[in-house]
Amino acid sequence: MSQEPIEEKIDEIISRYPSPTGRVLSVLEDIQEVEGYLSKEALKLLSKKLKIPLANLYSLATFYSFFNLKAVGTYTITVCMGTACHVKGAPRVLETLKKLLGIDEGETTSDGSFTLSAARCFGACSIAPVIKINDRVYGHITPEMLPSILKIYGWREKK
Ligand code: FES
Repeated sequence: MSQEPIEEKIDEIISRYPSPTGRVLSVLEDIQEVEGYLSKEALKLLSKKLKIPLANLYSLATFYSFFNLKAVGTYTITVCMGTACHVKGAPRVLETLKKLLGIDEGETTSDGSFTLSAARCFGACSIAPVIKINDRVYGHITPEMLPSILKIYGWREKK
């Protein structure tokens, strides 16, 4: 993500479209691509610039599941909570990740590195329990394995 002020980025994105009000979805997608999510600040600025009520922008952003309204970390860790993984210890894996990262499900660490989420079956039940870090799948996970996996992604244990 660049350090350019959000307002300049939004102006630049709007200028890409000859009729930005008719292409609001594309404008929102481009903002999300640059910012990683749709911040309140970005939506407010966009609402002012395109003269579209903020509530309309929010309804669009919440209607389409590909929009994020919350900041997402560089790495999203998804724990499979499907039946096979659940039986093989996924709840302990999730609890351990919460403790190690100091966040709850759906939250992002304050340094913006990790977002923790849970999902249903990834279709990799034969290697349950399974976690995914961005697109990489890790199978046969035990809570003991987690610190060394997290370290690959820059996590440091708090002493
Ligand atoms: S239940 Fe976890 S991969 Fe199928």
